[in-house]
Amino acid sequence: MEQQLKELRESAVIELAKADSLDMLNDLRVKYLGKKGSLTSILRGMGALSAEERPRIGQIVNEIRAELEGVIEAKGTELKEAELTKRLASERIDVTLPGRQPSEGHRHPLTLTLERIKEIFMQLGFTVAEGPEVEQDYYNFELLNLPKDHPARDMQDSFYITEEILLRTHTSPIQARTMQAANPNDPVKIIAPGKVYRRDYDATHSPMFTQVEGLLIDKNISFADLKGTLELFIHQMFGDNVGVRFRPSFFPFTEPSAEVDISCVICGGKGCRVCKGTGWLEILGSGMVHPNVLKMNNFDPEKVSGFAFGMGVERIAMLLYGIDDLRLFYDNDLRFLRQF
Ligand code: DAH
Repeated sequence: MEQQLKELRESAVIELAKADSLDMLNDLRVKYLGKKGSLTSILRGMGALSAEERPRIGQIVNEIRAELEGVIEAKGTELKEAELTKRLASERIDVTLPGRQPSEGHRHPLTLTLERIKEIFMQLGFTVAEGPEVEQDYYNFELLNLPKDHPARDMQDSFYITEEILLRTHTSPIQARTMQAANPNDPVKIIAPGKVYRRDYDATHSPMFTQVEGLLIDKNISFADLKGTLELFIHQMFGDNVGVRFRPSFFPFTEPSAEVDISCVICGGKGCRVCKGTGWLEILGSGMVHPNVLKMNNFDPEKVSGFAFGMGVERIAMLLYGIDDLRLFYDNDLRFLRQF
């Protein structure tokens, strides 16, 4: 057996010396040291040896294994280095070539528009409030002076989850939530951006869209404050030359209520297809907070007053960038999105 081991060691050393690739080296490792390798096979024959011989032969086997492992490792390092040197010699890198530009992402036109809106109101001292998209009927309608059978609920056909829970149809519930959380002796001055949902789908309506709500409550707030604030916003958003018009309207949560139009940004007010020949475009709803809404949300209409407004961000972005189909915002077509 000793002779067998001696021969095995010699042939292994010779073969290993000849290995000229990492693959070949690995094959040899398996051949000699693997589970079914030659050294292991010899070990299996040890059962036939006498008790005195067994430890001596065992030690020889261990020595050979250790030696071969050392040879394999050294050879492996040598082969790896050789391969690297070879690759470096054949591969040429032209350091004068221009680098590859990583393509940079950018913001969505609706995000850009929303950021502009927020910036303008934040400069005026408004803070940003948020509320849930899955909302209770109570906040979405009831606390806004829209009881269960109010006909104005029909203006906002919506997605109900249960009879009492729905996808919010506007950002106005944040008015109620903010008032409920506030101290009724302190002023309230917030805008509330977010997604809203209605059962609508065409070139100017989407089942999901974005609104920004505004609410200001303090002592002696009048319609003049509403008008001044919204005029300033519109001029910052669309430029000083844009005309602004307040038109009487109805919302259950404001009294009086007004819809706000701007002179058509496409034709400059002469009349065109976009403004349907009128020269004006509606951009938001607004009004003085209804006394019932103040009362239901713990504020005293004898002591304070306020104004509120709500605008559609898609609509403003369409006018700002001259986009004629609202669905483009959601198609994720890069040919469209890359233009902003
Ligand atoms: N919530 C209304 C809508 O979605 C918009 C609106 C109108 C909000 C008047 C207001 C407001 O805060 O005062 O149609």
